Amino acid sequence: MNKLLLNSIKDIQKKTPLWFLRQSGRHIPEYFEIRQKAKNFIEFCLNKDLVVESTKLPLKYYDLDAAIIFSDILMIPWAMNRDVKFVKGEGPILNPMVPNVTKIEKKVDIFQSLKSINDAMTILKKDLPSHISLIGFAGAPWTLSCYMIEGKGSKDFIKTRTALWEAKKWFKELIDTLIVYVAQKLELQARAGADVLMIFDSWSHMIPYPHFQEFGIKPVAKIIELLRSKNIQQPIIGFPFKAGTSLVQYSYESNVDCIALDWTVDLDWAQKNLNSSIAFQGNLDPSSLISENDSYLEESVKSILEKMKNRKFIFNVGHGLTPECKIKNVKNVINMVRNYN
Ligand code: CP3
Repeated sequence: MNKLLLNSIKDIQKKTPLWFLRQSGRHIPEYFEIRQKAKNFIEFCLNKDLVVESTKLPLKYYDLDAAIIFSDILMIPWAMNRDVKFVKGEGPILNPMVPNVTKIEKKVDIFQSLKSINDAMTILKKDLPSHISLIGFAGAPWTLSCYMIEGKGSKDFIKTRTALWEAKKWFKELIDTLIVYVAQKLELQARAGADVLMIFDSWSHMIPYPHFQEFGIKPVAKIIELLRSKNIQQPIIGFPFKAGTSLVQYSYESNVDCIALDWTVDLDWAQKNLNSSIAFQGNLDPSSLISENDSYLEESVKSILEKMKNRKFIFNVGHGLTPECKIKNVKNVINMVRNYN
C-alpha cells in the first residue's frame, strides 16, 4: 500500500500527510499506565513490549500517517555509560563530562546495546497498518554533546559553548564519536524496518554562528553520507530547532530530504529562502492545542495548509506536544487537514 508520508517527501501530493512530534507522550492518559510498568524511563525505553505499546498508543486516538518509535535521544549517551536518569520535575540528569578530562567512550556496540529497538521495530513492522510510515530517530551530535557536557538541560549551555574553543580537540573527538554512533543507531532502525529517519537537533540555536556549519551541518551531512554508503536509502528529516537564518545553509548543505520547521519560522520566508528541492514539515505552534479557542486553531491550521499547498509537505507541530495539550484539539486539527483539499 502507498504511504502518503513517504510519497510527500518525494513529490507534491494532493493530500497532506500528518503526524505530531511527541505524539506518544503525556497528553494521553494511558501513557502513565504504560510508564508505570517499568522501573524507570530507561528501562521503559529498553522494554520492547512497552515500546510497541506506547508507539501504537496515539493510533488508538488519532488518524495519523506515521508512528514514531517510542525511545529517547539520550539512549546513545546511556549506551556510552553517562548514567542517564530522568528525574521527575527536573528532566534528564547525566554524569557530566569534563572537557579535556573525561575519556570519550569509543568501544560501544550500538547494535548490541540498543538491540531492543530493533526487536520493537520488527514487531511494529508487522503490527502497523501498511499506510502508516514508521519513523526511527536519533539526536544530532551537537544536542547530545550539550546534554553530555552540561549533565542536564540548560538555558544557555555555556559549558558546551566554552568547550567548543577551550577544548577544541577533545570536543571535535566527542562530535566525531557521536557521528558514528548516531549513524549506527539510525542504521539499526532502518534495517529493522523504519520507513523514514529523523535527526533532532533540539539545541541547534545554542551553536555560535561561526561554528554552525562545523557542528550543526557537517555532522548531519556526514551521518547521511555514512548511511548512504551502507545502502540505507530511507529519507531523512532534519530538525535544526530554532536555527533561524542558519536554516538556509542547513537546507542546502546537510543533505536532508526534508527539513522540519519550528513554530517561529515564517513559512513565506522559508518558501523564498530555503532549498526548494527538499520537503518541509511543520510548523503549528503546539501551544495552540492547549487553548479552548477553536477559531484561532482553525485559522493557524488553514494558513499553514494554504501556504504549503504547492510544495512537498508534511503537516506537524513546530515542536513536541506538551502534557497540557487537549486530545479534542488534536482531533480537530486532524479533521481540518483531512478535509482540506
Ligand atoms: O512521541 C514521541 O515523540 C516518542 C518518542 C520521543 C521521546 N523523546 C519520548 C520521551 C522522542 C522523539 C524524544 C526525543 C527527545 N528527547 C528530544 C528531541 C525532541 C525535542 O523535544 O526537542 C529531546 C531533547 C529529548 C530529551 C528528553 N527526554 C528530555 C529533555 C526529556 C524531559 C523533558 C520532558 O519532556 O519530560 C525527556 C523525557 C521523555 N522522552 C519523555 C518522553 C515521553 C517524558 C518522560 C516521562 O516523564 O514520562
